[in-house]
Amino acid sequence: MSYLNIEVKKIEPVVDELNILLAEYNVYYQNLRGFHWNVVGENFFVLHEKFEELYTDARIKVDEIAERILTLRHHPESRFSEYHKLSKVKEAASLISDKKMVAQILADHQQLLKQMTKVVQKAEEAGDEGTVDMIGGYIGSLEKVSWMLDAWLKETKK
Ligand SMILES: [Fe+2]
Repeated sequence: MSYLNIEVKKIEPVVDELNILLAEYNVYYQNLRGFHWNVVGENFFVLHEKFEELYTDARIKVDEIAERILTLRHHPESRFSEYHKLSKVKEAASLISDKKMVAQILADHQQLLKQMTKVVQKAEEAGDEGTVDMIGGYIGSLEKVSWMLDAWLKETKK
């Protein structure tokens, strides 16, 4: 039985953008795992924990995005080979300094936020309030985390 009050044709562009976001979240998740494992230096304890917190959040969102696609009666992409084609978030080297890791995470966030905005635009055009609400919530929380990481990167005022 169809439970969606959205035109079938209109939902396709939303699903396409959600699958790109899913691809980007998966690559971002794996980047965070690499940083969690390989971070070294005086900030180890803080960042090792923080990266775990971020990838745990990303893992939950990966599942929520995939299940939103299923709720919209489509299939989420699950192959990494396809993720690499779809995603503008690219695999990051993980043997880098802690500051470069945080800067890379911020760059990934910028791309994720861009893609989320695209999802919301397509969902608004389709009258897909469920997706607007879900991804809109992601935007606010990712912006907040980004502000905190950006603050961490700055030098303390003398
Ligand atoms: Fe761990």
